[in-house]
Amino acid sequence: MEGVLDPLMRQILTKNKHIDYCTTEFVRVTDKLIPKHVFYRYAPELREDSKTQSKTPVLVQLLGGKPDWMAENARIAKDLGAFGIDLNFGCPAKTVNRHDGGATLLKDPQRLFDTISKIKSTLGQDFHVSAKVRLGFDNKDLVTDIAIACFESGANWMTVHARTKEEAYKPPAHWEFIRKMKENTPKDFCIFANGDIWSLSKYRECVEKSLCKDVMIGRGLLRNPFLAEEIKKNKEFDSKEKEEKTLTLIKDYLQKGAQIYGETKALNRIKQWLRICTYPEHSRFSKIFELAKRTRSTTEIRKCLEH
Ligand SMILES: Cc1cc2nc3c(=O)[nH]c(=O)nc-3n(C[C@H](O)[C@H](O)[C@H](O)COP(=O)(O)O)c2cc1C
Repeated sequence: MEGVLDPLMRQILTKNKHIDYCTTEFVRVTDKLIPKHVFYRYAPELREDSKTQSKTPVLVQLLGGKPDWMAENARIAKDLGAFGIDLNFGCPAKTVNRHDGGATLLKDPQRLFDTISKIKSTLGQDFHVSAKVRLGFDNKDLVTDIAIACFESGANWMTVHARTKEEAYKPPAHWEFIRKMKENTPKDFCIFANGDIWSLSKYRECVEKSLCKDVMIGRGLLRNPFLAEEIKKNKEFDSKEKEEKTLTLIKDYLQKGAQIYGETKALNRIKQWLRICTYPEHSRFSKIFELAKRTRSTTEIRKCLEH
């Protein structure tokens, strides 16, 4: 997740070993080779067998619309030791779409097929390539074609954010359309359902509607970093305790983030984390965010958190 899921955040969230895979923020591919140092900046885990400290595999996420350049840059990531490549076909940002990247490719599923199969044929069928998609660009007419394109191109799995690009992040997520994708691809093709999984009960509802047991969680894990564990243990933990522990993790990020990324970047990221913590309904975090959003230093934020 761009602007939040940096290496330190991955380290913090995967610490309790209940997350099976994670990705980097997206690396934008145009018509150039990306220097190695950029890959290392997005994914310092490349130096550690492409795993976080707690040994969770990290996929390098690429975003772009030119199959040849995507493949050549994927090759660099592979040579640097990437566990695999995840392809971002879901980004709704106007600037990204205007430059022919992200969700705009969903208008023509053949382009998903071309990009994935080009990377597979360049890097070998054994190398992991997965796709992150939405239900479509401005309508859901192509859901089946999108799923088939991903499957037939040889993608190892597909993650589906259950909204169109036009729907952006507007609730509800339409998990029932993922079921349509599931029903139109072979049983052993792995599909991760995504969107609005905020709690164990939302997870159960999503499984029932999508028929996918596997899920990808974004904001839900930032608000509740113990959600993957709750899902795996099929048990909801005490909410006060979770909030306290989450605050400890936020403080941990604040302290280490300022050292690693510098004051400004750490400050912006912590504000983004706190903002996401206010979804989907208001909570104690909303009050903290209201206090924190105008702060200008990590020391001030720390005071808000103590307060
Ligand atoms: C701030 C932010 C940044 C995001 N950045 C990315 C990204 O870089 N790559 C990606 O595949 N999805 C990205 N997403 C989308 C999420 O991965 C996810 O599909 C979406 O938030 C819905 O799932 P959720 O309800 O579990 O958060 C981003 C979402 C947010 C809110």
